[in-house]
Amino acid sequence: MFITGANSGIGLSTFLQCFENGIFPIGGVRREQEFRNELNQMNIKPDSYEIVEMRMEEIKSLEKLVPKIKTITKSLDALVLNAGAIETAPSLMTSIESIERHLKINFTHQIYIAQSIAKSFFIKKRKGSIVAISSSAAIDANPGRLAYAASKSALTTAIRVMSKELGSVSIRCNVVAPGLTETKLMRSSTEDEQIKLFTQNISIKRLGKPNEIADTIHFLCSDKASFITGQVINVDGGIR
Ligand SMILES: NC(=O)c1ccc[n+]([C@@H]2O[C@H](COP(=O)([O-])OP(=O)(O)OC[C@H]3O[C@@H](n4cnc5c(N)ncnc54)[C@H](OP(=O)(O)O)[C@@H]3O)[C@@H](O)[C@H]2O)c1
Repeated sequence: MFITGANSGIGLSTFLQCFENGIFPIGGVRREQEFRNELNQMNIKPDSYEIVEMRMEEIKSLEKLVPKIKTITKSLDALVLNAGAIETAPSLMTSIESIERHLKINFTHQIYIAQSIAKSFFIKKRKGSIVAISSSAAIDANPGRLAYAASKSALTTAIRVMSKELGSVSIRCNVVAPGLTETKLMRSSTEDEQIKLFTQNISIKRLGKPNEIADTIHFLCSDKASFITGQVINVDGGIR
């Protein structure tokens, strides 16, 4: 399984659950050595995973992903498009640069990775699972999240289009849409007061935990989800 943004939050939980599920994880991160040191501190054996460096905003670093992964394995079953970024601003104060940055990181370059991994690993094998991490914000259109929500909406729709084209070669494409989940990204983009308000609207009355999102990602990547494609799974404690 190749997981982008594997060093933190939902991506880290997904990476670590691979060990419980007998899956060899390849993590895509910005700082390889730092992540290796962290895994070392968790007593994870260095031969039980691989790491490749990548920066979502730099297409050149993404062009190197497939060649790097091919030196690690000839066979990949699953891709988790998890790395993502958010900046918040009122709609009328959102710069064009910010919108373009969000689209590049959360949409265009995600699709580039999905295309290159599918062409290089999944098509020949006629098997593969792509799970993209979108957000409840893509549907709920929360204030302050114009650029982020739009980029996640684009990602969601594109993955659903891919699911319709690639189903005939047994490549499944699904989307996980987390609600507020306790991570670095969420804390940096949501005021404490907003968290309190949002939580009141969650049926389960608490924030999600990264592990709870990772459970769904692993299910969708597994053969247990062999007849599931083109779906958007809301893992949000019930907010609508
Ligand atoms: N937490 C929530 O409430 C929530 C809700 C809905 C959707 N999501 C989505 O869930 C996904 C994971 O986020 P998280 O909540 O787990 O937050 P997180 O702990 O901050 O993790 C975000 C990951 O993305 C990586 N990343 C960000 N920008 C990158 C870039 N330009 N190039 C490469 N990697 C980059 C980060 O790397 P660094 O550590 O190097 O920064 C980190 O590994 C994101 O797509 C996010 O939009 C989160």
